[in-house]
Amino acid sequence: MTALEVFLIAPVVCIILYTFVLRRSPRNLPPGPTPLPVVGNLLDFSGSTPLYKDFLKYKDKYGDIVRLVLGPLQNVILVFGHKAIHKALIEQGNDFKYRPTSLFIIKKLFHGKGITFGNGDAHQKLRKFTLVALKDFGVGKKSLEERIQDEARIVAEELESYGGQPRDIRKTLQRAVANIIAGIIYGTRLDYGDPEFIRLIQNIDTIFTVVSARLPENFFPFLAYLPNSKARTVFNAFDDMSRYARKRIKEHRATFNPDNIRDFVDLYLKAEEHEDEEEVDEENMFRVIVDLFDVGTDTTSTTLAWAILYLMTNPDVQEKCQKEIKENVGSGRAVSLSDKEQLQYLDATIKETLRLACIAPLVPPHTVLEDTQFEGYTIPKESTILFHLNSVLTDPNIWETPEEFHPERFLTEEGKKKEKEFLIPFSIGPRSCLGKHLAMMELFLFLGNMLQRFTFKIPPGCPTPSVERVHTGITCQPHPYHVCVVPN
Ligand code: HEM
Repeated sequence: MTALEVFLIAPVVCIILYTFVLRRSPRNLPPGPTPLPVVGNLLDFSGSTPLYKDFLKYKDKYGDIVRLVLGPLQNVILVFGHKAIHKALIEQGNDFKYRPTSLFIIKKLFHGKGITFGNGDAHQKLRKFTLVALKDFGVGKKSLEERIQDEARIVAEELESYGGQPRDIRKTLQRAVANIIAGIIYGTRLDYGDPEFIRLIQNIDTIFTVVSARLPENFFPFLAYLPNSKARTVFNAFDDMSRYARKRIKEHRATFNPDNIRDFVDLYLKAEEHEDEEEVDEENMFRVIVDLFDVGTDTTSTTLAWAILYLMTNPDVQEKCQKEIKENVGSGRAVSLSDKEQLQYLDATIKETLRLACIAPLVPPHTVLEDTQFEGYTIPKESTILFHLNSVLTDPNIWETPEEFHPERFLTEEGKKKEKEFLIPFSIGPRSCLGKHLAMMELFLFLGNMLQRFTFKIPPGCPTPSVERVHTGITCQPHPYHVCVVPN
């Protein structure tokens, strides 16, 4: 079929499907804006406003559960606020724990395999295997804590080499965090200047800044075959990541010794030898690796970039963190996990960063396998369900002055830890973040060790950088900014 024929036929097919879907939609759907034929509500948010903000306007108008139709076919359900999100992900967690497989980009990238977009028994087993492997950081020669401290030292050398001059340090943060994952998975770190490493990080950037619920290719797959399709850049980046993972697995296979387990890949190869379950195969192993490498790098390094931005724009907070480190750790040794109880202000600063930056404002899509009753509405089976975490993390009914950076909200008057059940940046329920403990460990050790040695300052003569969130893809990024990293 020629491209012209595709163009002529596709809209007709869409209209027929649209009519079909409307007719078979269950009654009692959640409220929402009226969809147009073919495009549904897609045109409502094709502008430059961050998508999570665009979605918030529906909450004001329709309440905590809203139905949209994106493209000709796709029911999209938005869930806002702690009460409704908790009800779905905890009380009805078994109904809502699935990931959709109908969105074109997800289907093409993940084929329903791996952890992030797998489902059913296979997902459960891979998740359990990976959680145990991540917990058992005895894998490899060095403990995870030592690895992060080593990497923090290398980052410090790199930052020192900038000589206090204004720099965009985001790439350095990405490489540091990617190296922690690389160490867990492949047992080795990569050099910051290695062109292959730089390309891998670029691929992760592409995936996390382009993939979005509003990408029309999700609903009109034929668009992905046009030149300049954004989805194509994502497919290319993903293919490149996958080729690299397969190459490293092959190298591991060639040198594998079951009596000397070096890393995650070896652990998996060993499981492959012993278990006759079909989930433990190379296809799943390489998908888990790509999942961990992508998700583990972007999320934590983006959070670090936000933390540094908040520290330089709130020098009083930075000073309090440094004073606490000076008094409890000094400068003669590295900050370690055993200091955590003493470094309560730093801990509160990390929590406040996770809350305010809210890097995953819309949880990766969930779905239900059957028409599901929820809060008085019917959620149609195979809907794409987006949980709006930002509506919880900046809810003015939960947080006082929610748009302000204020770590003290996580501390009692005596400066002790104050737990807040509404702090859910890692989501909740059966699909909640699998890397939460690793991420918290990295944030504490990287930030603690950087603040021990440096002060982050706005470059002289420059305006205060913006703290507006940019949300073009999966995670919310800060606008690019320059910082002077000045030794203490
Ligand atoms: C600050 C850092 C991080 C944040 C804020 C974060 C947040 C999230 C969120 C919101 C989800 C979606 C949960 C849901 O669908 O209900 C998620 C899932 C996931 N995260 Fe993280 N994450 C972070 C770091 C990491 C790291 C370091 C890793 C890897 C080692 C990781 C691996 C995963 C995986 C594999 C999933 C999918 C879990 C599943 O579907 O079963 N994350 N994360």
